[in-house]
Amino acid sequence: MKKILVNGGKQLFGSIPISGMKNAALPVIYASLIVSGKCVIENLPMVNDVLVSFDILRAVGVKVEQLSETSVCIDAENAAIAKVPSELSNKIRASYYLLGAELARFEEAEVGLPGGCDFCVRPIDQHIKAFETLGAKVTVDQNAGTIRADVPDCLQGETVFFDTVTVGATINAMLASVCAFGNTVIVNAAREPHVVDLANFLNTCGADIAGAGTDTIKIRGVAQKKLHGCTYAIIPDMIEAGTYMAAVAAAGGDVTITNVIPKHLETISAKLCDMGAKVIEDDTSVRVVSDGKLKHTAIKTLPYPGFATDMQPQFCVLMCLAEGESTLIEGVWANRFKYVDELKRMGAKITVNDKTAKVTGVDKLHSASVRAVDLRAGAAMIIAALCAEATTAVEDVHLIERGYENIVSKLSNVGADIFSLNAGNY
Ligand code: EPU
Repeated sequence: MKKILVNGGKQLFGSIPISGMKNAALPVIYASLIVSGKCVIENLPMVNDVLVSFDILRAVGVKVEQLSETSVCIDAENAAIAKVPSELSNKIRASYYLLGAELARFEEAEVGLPGGCDFCVRPIDQHIKAFETLGAKVTVDQNAGTIRADVPDCLQGETVFFDTVTVGATINAMLASVCAFGNTVIVNAAREPHVVDLANFLNTCGADIAGAGTDTIKIRGVAQKKLHGCTYAIIPDMIEAGTYMAAVAAAGGDVTITNVIPKHLETISAKLCDMGAKVIEDDTSVRVVSDGKLKHTAIKTLPYPGFATDMQPQFCVLMCLAEGESTLIEGVWANRFKYVDELKRMGAKITVNDKTAKVTGVDKLHSASVRAVDLRAGAAMIIAALCAEATTAVEDVHLIERGYENIVSKLSNVGADIFSLNAGNY
């Protein structure tokens, strides 16, 4: 098993380039299945969730050819309905985008129940509601661990009302309705930049989607044959960028985070400024300057454009090192505080009551052997380790590699004393 070791206490200086956004890349990769023609997808992060998604598409007959370190050509011409081995689909959450994409392409779909970060139970009732509203019959077989969707008549455009704001179900509704007969309206849609990126990709291929980025998305169905291949570059990863911004604020230093869309980072930048760091925006970069001295704050996570839940564990580390008492409320997931026990082993003072954490700042965190309990929690452990005295070992690195490309080299290039060890090395 791989570990990441960090000798804490180094300030960070230089620049960190940001990769394409995992959570935007995944829907676009699955959407390529609907398109007749070759799609060249650029600025992809080659992280594990993306690589597993290529294997899932290959299992249904799609050709995925790597063109460069960050681009692939996806050719779905010979795709056909086929069983995807559950050991593949169970690995990641985003495998459920295969349902929406297969429905659009074949009017039937089947996939194993999705995996992914298990910080809490992750329901899929709104995905099912969307498919059923569009005319599909959905069967969940818990024993076989599969979800199946069939279309007895045809996929028919309808108004889909979501009971809660959900990124995944908004994306699945867009995928399933892009070639449906007539018009679909998604009400209470998620407004995340990755929802907009999917709409832009599909529109570049000939789809007719308006309103992505607002809470009402309108999709005029087009014939599947009319969707043509294209070349498309994925947007930069705002959560990866936010993670490095938080790392600089905590460890101290002066780092320019490049290849970003500063607008997507506004809530993160504003909180860092509240806490005492300086953030200087340019057209495609943000520079973070910090002396590592942080002030307490209050955060509640919310759907975009609110404060991102995927930045919650990283900001908890900042709160651990800030003077005074901070409050952190999880407003998206039922529970996302499993990692708190790991931080406590480093000397953090945190009490959790349901969805609220009270964090009392300490002068220093100390080294310990800690686990990445999920992807973002793992990134938070690395930030804590950068600020801790002596050497911290972070285990279960495979969870971090689900979503961060080259995290060790990106941080060591700005002066962190960080390296990975494979089982054979220790
Ligand atoms: N929800 C339902 N029913 C559903 C779907 C969602 O009640 O059918 C609830 C969830 O329980 C949650 C809320 O709606 O309380 C939001 O869930 P959402 O569907 O938006 O989450 P997701 O699409 O499964 C994506 C990201 C997550 C990120 C969330 C929220 C991907 C692959 N995953 O998940 O990212 O936390 O949106 O922004 O895009 C990560 O990258 O580390 C990660 C976990």
